[in-house]
Amino acid sequence: VSAAPVGPGATGRLFGVGVGPGDPDLMTVRAVDLVRGADVVAYHCARHGRSNARAIAAAHLGTQIEEALTYPVTTETVGGPEDYQARLDGFYADVAARLAEHLDAGRDVVVLSEGDPFFYGSFLYLHARLGTRFPAVVVPGVSSVMASAASARRPLSARGDILTVLPATLPDDRLRAAILGADSLAILKLGRHFARVKRLLAELGLTDRAIYAERVTQGGERVLPLAETGDTAPYFATLLVYRGTEPAILGTLA
Ligand SMILES: C[S@@+](CC[C@H](N)C(=O)[O-])C[C@H]1O[C@@H](n2cnc3c(N)ncnc32)[C@H](O)[C@@H]1O
Repeated sequence: VSAAPVGPGATGRLFGVGVGPGDPDLMTVRAVDLVRGADVVAYHCARHGRSNARAIAAAHLGTQIEEALTYPVTTETVGGPEDYQARLDGFYADVAARLAEHLDAGRDVVVLSEGDPFFYGSFLYLHARLGTRFPAVVVPGVSSVMASAASARRPLSARGDILTVLPATLPDDRLRAAILGADSLAILKLGRHFARVKRLLAELGLTDRAIYAERVTQGGERVLPLAETGDTAPYFATLLVYRGTEPAILGTLA
């Protein structure tokens, strides 16, 4: 994969590499080649230091320089939304400066992204800051939405179905309007919003049309009808809801 000049005096290249939803076998051939050949491998991790993206690519890490990008504060409740946004902006500015040092020194930097880098991925903020200063390449990955449907063996959409992706973080009125405008839905970022979303789907008569998919393709994968779940869910869980009329899809709801 070539992205612009490589040669004496050239800067390094920035790669945003999707590593898929969890199972290392679902990394693309290109992702594996790029991780193996990188000078620097960067990945986001929570404050406790765990990085899912790193765990997925671990078999391909060796002598590369590793850059762990540790999120400052992961909850929006500390200091309110504006403070949260300011902390995040500061975080991405710091990370971009760190990676720019490697790129200026001619080192290729691979940023690992769970699933796909441009689908709700943190890489897009780094791309916005670095993608015009350095040659950049984005390598798509298997997204959690596709992997959830595959694990659940529940097709996502057919024919004229409108497929909508919703972050569970939205307020009820926006969720309700979007749900009522869609035939098929994937609802992401459940975590502490799960009970509220579950209630909303019940209110709309959709409980029996929803499948819950947690940590798909990873150890601990759980896929079950929404009606059989409790009131809590981790962040790495997705709901698939089908409101359409395609018999081949309706027949897979159980
Ligand atoms: C910030 S988004 C990132 C999506 C990612 N870039 C992708 O392409 O899948 C994170 C959300 O994706 C979903 N997700 C990611 N990995 C998952 C998995 N292995 N199983 C179920 N849902 C997952 C969850 O809803 C989680 O809250």
